[in-house]
Amino acid sequence: MPPIYRPIEHTDLKAIAGVFVESLNHRQIAVGLEPLVDLNDPHAWEEMWQTVRRPLFEHVSAHAGTGWLAEVDGKVSGYARTIQREHVCQLTELFVSPGQQKAGLGRELLKRAFINVESRSKLILANSNPAAISRYLRSGVYPVSTIFDLERKAEARPIETDLEARPITNDADTQVALNEIDRAILGYIRPEEHAWLCSQRSGFLYWRNGIPQGYAYAGQWNGPMAALAPEDMPAILAHAETIAAQAGETFGLMVPMPNRSAMMHLIERGFTLDTGHTMYFMADFSPPGLDRYIFSMPGFFA
Ligand SMILES: CC(C)(COP(=O)(O)OP(=O)(O)OC[C@H]1O[C@@H](n2cnc3c(N)ncnc32)[C@H](O)[C@@H]1OP(=O)(O)O)[C@@H](O)C(=O)NCCC(=O)NCCS
Repeated sequence: MPPIYRPIEHTDLKAIAGVFVESLNHRQIAVGLEPLVDLNDPHAWEEMWQTVRRPLFEHVSAHAGTGWLAEVDGKVSGYARTIQREHVCQLTELFVSPGQQKAGLGRELLKRAFINVESRSKLILANSNPAAISRYLRSGVYPVSTIFDLERKAEARPIETDLEARPITNDADTQVALNEIDRAILGYIRPEEHAWLCSQRSGFLYWRNGIPQGYAYAGQWNGPMAALAPEDMPAILAHAETIAAQAGETFGLMVPMPNRSAMMHLIERGFTLDTGHTMYFMADFSPPGLDRYIFSMPGFFA
């Protein structure tokens, strides 16, 4: 039977998350890393789905974008989703079950996910899988920046700055400030992500003389983080790491290579570069502020 392609429904979210985990497990093992979870252990998988994956999978499908899945012999075997934020269409996921790869499912799913986006900007946070990169290049994006994964056990750090940290809330002034920073750094706004991040992580806006200068989210997953001036990045990182340390978390970050101030700050504090998770910012545009930005982990959206 040829594969069936159809739009993703809300009731499909756990099945596509299963494809995501199965596909990543396979890739993790191939590059010598631990699998995310044993899918044959229903308790472990159910717990991971409810606590870690479900909020993110629901968020991606909750706003503007596309979602397509492929069924092979009645089984969900691949899927792709995008989110649409202003003029930017970002591919959040493209995953095919290991047993169904190299048969054209990825090509068909990507074609459907990026349908009707010719007049918009495309963005993908890609891993280093050659099959994925080859597909993405042919969809019209190019590698704008390498993204390194740096991490270590979080520590309380001295914070030498005149910035004032205030918790991110859902009020109108905070939203205006976040949007202004995103427009300066990314070139587009995404209030949907901030509303979701604010419900999941500890978020802070950093002010100087009543003017917003940057933001950061920390928690079980960290990022995104942004600073209008690169000189403020070390203090923002030190503050976010201190928040993560209070919760006893590991401090893992996805840092674009042009963000020199963050890279130097982290390397000098003993963070290690995890080359197994190197990613690429692929797009058909170059955002103005990758030198002052840290991505949201895991790399579903910028
Ligand atoms: C990436 C992925 C979605 C691709 O799906 P797929 O169904 O296997 O892909 P397709 O069969 O449609 O296409 C694969 C293409 O990669 C090409 N390819 C594979 N290895 C390649 C290499 N080393 N160099 C260049 N091209 C390569 C194949 O030739 C094929 O292109 P073609 O159709 O023009 O011949 C799938 O491999 C997957 O799920 N991988 C694990 C998860 C992952 O890495 N996802 C990407 C997240 S950013």
